[in-house]
Amino acid sequence: MKIDIKLEKAIYNLIHLEWAISQSLIDKATYLENTPFKDYAKWMKKRGEKEHAHALYLFEYLKKRVGKLELNNLKKAENLYPSPFQVFQSALKDKHEVISSTIDLYALAVELKDTESEQVFHAFINEHISEEKHIFDIHQKIKLTKNTLILTPYLKIEKRNMTEVRE
Ligand SMILES: [Fe+2]
Repeated sequence: MKIDIKLEKAIYNLIHLEWAISQSLIDKATYLENTPFKDYAKWMKKRGEKEHAHALYLFEYLKKRVGKLELNNLKKAENLYPSPFQVFQSALKDKHEVISSTIDLYALAVELKDTESEQVFHAFINEHISEEKHIFDIHQKIKLTKNTLILTPYLKIEKRNMTEVRE
């Protein structure tokens, strides 16, 4: 079955989004490497690799359906975060965006009665929702413990400075 042009464009958009989010997650992992959240850096990098794999999967899927592809104008990835909490907040926002786009794509495939695409995007939605739960859990954990995990190094510096001032 020849793919509908609307579906083709929507798949292109999702490829760009998956690609941009993959880059953004790798940036976040790099940031976390230099914080007390090193273990989360590995976890974040794996998520980035997964999104990269999603983009490549969609790339191959679209190539199979249309024969010829063009990819350009990838979104610029973020590279500045004020805190690890902000990193996970941003990851959650990215995940919401990709879930929303995938749901739109699934709805379009249903509307166009493209059952092959329906199956592909249904699987993507489930995977993204499961990842969103992981990101949300870590986001909440960091939110609850940030006074200990994030502020401790700064408090130590503050205490040291106060001691220096007193001496
Ligand atoms: Fe994805």
